[in-house]
Amino acid sequence: MMSAPLPYRVVDRRDETHDTATLVLEPAGEALAPFAPGQFAMLYAFGVGEIPVSVSRLADGHRVTHTIRAVGAVSRALCALPTGGWVGARGPFGTAWDTAAAHGNDLLVIAGGIGIAPLRPLVDTVVAGPHLFGRLSVLAGARTPADLLYEDDFPAWEEPFGAVTVDRPSAGWTGRVGVVTTLLREARFTPSDTVAFLCGPEVMMRATARALIHQGVRPDRIQVSLERNMRCAVGHCGHCQLGPLLLCRDGPVVRYDRAEPILNVREL
Ligand SMILES: Cc1cc2nc3c(=O)[nH]c(=O)nc-3n(C[C@H](O)[C@H](O)[C@H](O)COP(=O)(O)OP(=O)(O)OC[C@H]3O[C@@H](n4cnc5c(N)ncnc54)[C@H](O)[C@@H]3O)c2cc1C
Ligand code: FES
Repeated sequence: MMSAPLPYRVVDRRDETHDTATLVLEPAGEALAPFAPGQFAMLYAFGVGEIPVSVSRLADGHRVTHTIRAVGAVSRALCALPTGGWVGARGPFGTAWDTAAAHGNDLLVIAGGIGIAPLRPLVDTVVAGPHLFGRLSVLAGARTPADLLYEDDFPAWEEPFGAVTVDRPSAGWTGRVGVVTTLLREARFTPSDTVAFLCGPEVMMRATARALIHQGVRPDRIQVSLERNMRCAVGHCGHCQLGPLLLCRDGPVVRYDRAEPILNVREL
């Protein structure tokens, strides 16, 4: 059954880039159950509409953190909320990143654009418990330097290894230029003992997964986060169907050996 959204107040906000903001939300009363990295909430902008948004940091207590890129009416309304503003929230929904599958293995965390948002709580988890995992590499791509997210977090990710690249450099940019797969050359991982976590545009995830498989990473050890329009988020309305999957229930995080045949059919 679909539950009603619970009222949450914006207690902190930060403009990450010209079109992307991070909101920290606190429940007015009853709180949602805790989120796991990779899961999402349905956020309701009052009078405008409701959209799926991933949790972008596991906050203390009942607070939840989301990073939202303004692309349309609802996401624009959420990004524009001031501190003290109100949203409705339902969740948590969907599958989480399977970090247990990565215990004892090298980890590759690979993001394109806003895709770094659902991956950040996963990276936080690994950084907090490094003894459980092998080597961690965080690789992030953005369209331009002005689109890079979480620059404050990157110093903590540089050791073991973090790198960013942009498609189009601006004047003064001295960093890497090129698609995110070019960073694989610098990452430190043993393909046969690696678990990879990918989030970004589908074309980027397919190209990255293919490059990883070519290097010897098993498809069932690659996890991708897939996006489709959502409405009910509880497996009833069918809006989020992708082949045999309902992505609000069977996703968004799906193993690539399961996702690849469906994504390839859509390409025909
Ligand atoms: C499980 C899940 C988690 C998500 N997590 C986040 C997140 O953490 N942060 C975030 O900013 N966004 C996230 N999204 C995407 C977000 O839900 C969409 O951007 C939002 O639904 C757009 O709604 P809108 O009313 O603002 O724009 P609309 O008017 O619906 O769309 C405006 C434009 O954006 C395009 N668009 C709409 N939805 C998507 C989409 N899902 N992917 C790509 N293009 C789209 C439309 O084709 C249109 O061109 C997530 C989506 C899913 C399914
Ligand atoms: S959003 Fe309704 S079935 Fe997934």
